[in-house]
Order: sequence, then structure tokens, then C-alpha cells
Amino acid sequence: MVDQYNFDTPVDRSGTYSMKWDKYKGKDIIPLWVADMDFVSPPAVRDALIKRIGHGVFGYTLPPQELNEIIVSLMKNEYGWKVEKEWIVWLPGLVTGLNVVCRAVGEDGDDVMTAIPVYPPFLTAPANSRRNLIKTDLVESNGKWEFDFKSIEKAITKRTRLFLLCNPHNPVGRVYNIDELSSLASICSRHGIIISSDEIHCGLLLEPGKCHIPIASLSNEIADLTITLMAPSKTFNLPGLGCSFAIISNPELRKSFYAAMNGIVPRVNTMGYIAAIAAYRDSHDWHAALLDYLRKNRDLVISSINKMPGLSSRQIEATYLAWIDTRQSGIEDPVKFFEDAGVGLFEGKEFGTPGFVRLNFGCRRSLLKNALERMAIAIGRRSLITKS
Ligand SMILES: Cc1ncc(COP(=O)(O)O)c(C=O)c1O
Repeated sequence: MVDQYNFDTPVDRSGTYSMKWDKYKGKDIIPLWVADMDFVSPPAVRDALIKRIGHGVFGYTLPPQELNEIIVSLMKNEYGWKVEKEWIVWLPGLVTGLNVVCRAVGEDGDDVMTAIPVYPPFLTAPANSRRNLIKTDLVESNGKWEFDFKSIEKAITKRTRLFLLCNPHNPVGRVYNIDELSSLASICSRHGIIISSDEIHCGLLLEPGKCHIPIASLSNEIADLTITLMAPSKTFNLPGLGCSFAIISNPELRKSFYAAMNGIVPRVNTMGYIAAIAAYRDSHDWHAALLDYLRKNRDLVISSINKMPGLSSRQIEATYLAWIDTRQSGIEDPVKFFEDAGVGLFEGKEFGTPGFVRLNFGCRRSLLKNALERMAIAIGRRSLITKS
């Protein structure tokens, strides 16, 4: 069943206005930077879109009740989380969601906290809404990236109103466990801090035995201080279709969220809804096959990177993104270094942590192997030069 999808098939993305590929148009640089995958979307999604295109009228579209019901069932079946349809707020993107959260919670001049490294819009959204950003560091401990709860407590100010959580975490690939989430929730609850939980990567768990826990599913009290952000876009490779949602159980918070959206956030486009229904309802086998493929890519990346002198990567529990520490390599500008070697990576500085790069392994394995070979050769050559 799982073998019917062939993720090894090359897909030529040139001429499709691909952000990922056009960055290096005309250059021999393998693009492994921005977070979309090179795979075609599930057959059910493509069929549903083609059918809808055949209809030919693309008018204003309401959120399909069917999709709300699919999400309610998904939350219950996957996470044991009982969600009401009314709690779902549709959004044309999760970056929009992050910015709306910052506007919806607190006032100008308030503080918004997050833990770095983190997806760049977490670092820019607070200032877009005239809030101050407070950064705490994730720390490497027990072979993985963890919250530093003491530093978080210490950094909280009287004006801290919001914590921006990313779970599973982009870029470090952590799936936070129940103890970590409970500790964070308890700190936020004690200080009256709202949690924005970006869970866009929750369908991309690679580590057998790990399960995603929406922080809002821990208790009704925690749900009441949480805005959960989700989308089918990462899991089913639909980011160009702009369809995401927030789940907000607290009616006051939901009201503020809608008020912050009012007049500036556009509706979700028709195709996004159609794709989301087919993705969540009819693409389970494709999803299972994808995870299997990504797991093997992940293993290849970790073993190859950790053999390269001066580079290291921790285990990636979720996402198709590897967070690579280059600090021991002595390379000053790692993005430029690897671009010169023919591989395009994402700059760690943008995530708040220089000295790191992010590698997207959501591509066919032969391309990934080629990129890793290019990186190994460049690193090997450099160590020979620096030794001599
Ligand atoms: C944690 C996280 N949130 C949000 C997004 C982007 O969401 P959207 O494309 O829906 O704005 C990404 C994309 O990589 C992401 O990793």
C-alpha cells in the first residue's frame, strides 16, 4: 500500500514560480532552504482540485462545514482533544496567524516571549504589532534541545502577555513531551500569559513512539489560555494554497482574535479548502508513505552530517528540517560556504542563532545524497587546507 507512492521520482519545478528553486535559478546550487517539499501532493488532493477547477466558477467561498467536522474528528482521534466547531477560525496562512495573535493579545508596548532558535516570523511578529520581543535560549541538554525554564521565569516581566511556542519545533525538530508542555503551561498560567502554540508541523512526526500533544489538550484551563495554530500545508505539501486555522476555546480570546483580523485578513481561497478536505480525509496512505520516506532521509542527513568534521546535528524527532551546528568548523559564513559548494541552506542568524544552518530534506533521496556529498567534499577540502 505504502509503496504505491514514489517519492524518488524527479519533479522539475522550474517555470512554476517556486520560491525555493527560483532563488538559485541558472546556478548549480541545490536548494534545501525554505520549508516546502519537492514532492507532488497526494493523489486525492490533486483529483479534488482538478474536479473543482472543472466547475469553473471561483467565487467567494465559505469555510466548508464538512472541513470543520473533519478537524473536530481529527483532533479527537489523533490527540484525544475535544474541540467544538465554533472554536475554529480560518486563516490564509500561519504567519498571518502569528501576527494576528500578537495584535489580539495585550497592548502596545507589552512583551512577547519566545525561545530561540525559532522560525523567523516569531521574531518579527511582535514588533509588527508594537510589542517587545523577549528571547530565551533553548539549551542543549541530554543530547537534545530543551526549554530553560529557570531562564524563562527570570525573563518574564510585568508586561509579558504572550508566549510564542513552536511545537513540533522549527528548526530544532523537537516534539515536546507532556512534562515539558505542562511545565511551560504552568509558568504561563501563573503569570497570566497567553500561549500561542504553532503546531503546523504536527503531522510530521518521524520518531517512532513519539506523539504530538497539543498544549491546549492538557486541560480546559490551559486550553483557555491557548491559541493553537495548525494547517495541512506542511504535512501534505500545500503551502502555496494558503489554508490554515486557529483553534481558540476561550470565547473572549476568540473575540479579540477576530477583532484583530477584521478588515485586513482575507478569506481562505477556494482551492485551499478543497485541498484541505482531501488531504485530511483521503490521504492517510500517502501520509504514512511520506513519513517512511522522510524518516530515511532524516537518518541519512544525521549520519552524513555528523561525519563531517566540525558539523553536528541532534536527532530530529519531527519536521523535514535539520538544524546543523557549524560552530566547531571555524567557517565564518556557512551559508556562503555551502552555496559555493553547490548547496543552498537557510541562515541560522534568521532564527536568532548565528553559527547554525537549516537543511530541508523534503526532497528526493538522490538529490539529497548529491547535496550531502557536495557538503562533505567542501568540508573535507577545507579541513585539508586548514591542517596544511
Ligand atoms: C513553525 C511555522 N509556522 C508557520 C509557517 C508558515 O506558515 P504559512 O506558510 O501558513 O504562513 C512555517 C513555515 O515553514 C513554520 O515552519
